[in-house]
Amino acid sequence: MDLLLHMKIFHSIYDLQSYLTEIRKSNPNKKIGFIPTMGALHTGHGELVKSSIKDDNFTVVSIFVNPTQFNNPTDFVLYPKTEDEDTRFLQSIGCDVLYLPILEEIYPDESFKTIEVDLGNLGEIYEGKFRPGHFMGVMAVVHRLFEIVKPDIAYFGQKDYQQWLVINKMVNQTGLDLTLKMVPTIREVDGLAKSSRNKRLNIQGRKNAPIIYEILKKAYLKLVKHPNELEDIKASMQYEFSVNKDFKLEYCDICSGFDLHPIHSLSTEKSCVLIVALNLGNVRLIDNVLINKDEWIANL
Ligand code: PAJ
Repeated sequence: MDLLLHMKIFHSIYDLQSYLTEIRKSNPNKKIGFIPTMGALHTGHGELVKSSIKDDNFTVVSIFVNPTQFNNPTDFVLYPKTEDEDTRFLQSIGCDVLYLPILEEIYPDESFKTIEVDLGNLGEIYEGKFRPGHFMGVMAVVHRLFEIVKPDIAYFGQKDYQQWLVINKMVNQTGLDLTLKMVPTIREVDGLAKSSRNKRLNIQGRKNAPIIYEILKKAYLKLVKHPNELEDIKASMQYEFSVNKDFKLEYCDICSGFDLHPIHSLSTEKSCVLIVALNLGNVRLIDNVLINKDEWIANL
């Protein structure tokens, strides 16, 4: 079959659901894998799609630039929109269905823009603190998309680690019946985490951006060697980010991989994460390195 003709594209909920109902009927043993995105796709997104294909799922990707999760209206307006390239990219890697939702169907009225989930402190710290309202927008849209697509498995990137934890909480508390899978961060050859926002960096910004990962990696390597020196390592990592005159640091910390509570020693933790958010010019970038202490492995 012609690869380019393989992928189906749907806009309306009715058309998408009718098709997926048929697919479920004719392939009762096949699981539906789902990857929600906001488009401007790169190989980081591609890795999520490939993971679903590798798991032998019928793979659905959505592209919806969700207005309610942008606490900064300029960020929403400037968010890159590359629908034609995205479509070709998804076709080329073997995605089965592309869902391009209609705004009015995602949010038929205001009540769909919020959802009752108690995030506790997780909603107040780091991204929750610097992007008020962001996680409410993310949870509401992801919940809505899950209800529409009804996937068996959904894939998310480690790149947005706090989002991953938030979506886990949302799924647990709303009783949705699906499995969540996390895929490690995909990087440029120079270490910069792939992000749709990287396109907005100017030449100087793009040159400086890989330093973010260099600082995280250096701190990780020190932590592995000297786990008892967490406080000193954290301080020098924070110092390196804050003295770099190109970076406007929002936060940088070493915290628990389970709920992001700040940690002061590694002895009590099974998993920890080094997280950072900063502005480079007018582009906000985030990154993290996750450490599983049992094996001393990091997704570097
Ligand atoms: P978006 O930024 O488009 O990301 C879609 C998915 O791709 C997320 O799970 C994100 O963590 C993952 N991703 C992005 N860059 C990655 C990289 N370099 N390596 C691995 N995975 C990466 O995150 C969102 O959209 C939205 O908040 C969304 C969940 C779609 C809700 O609107």
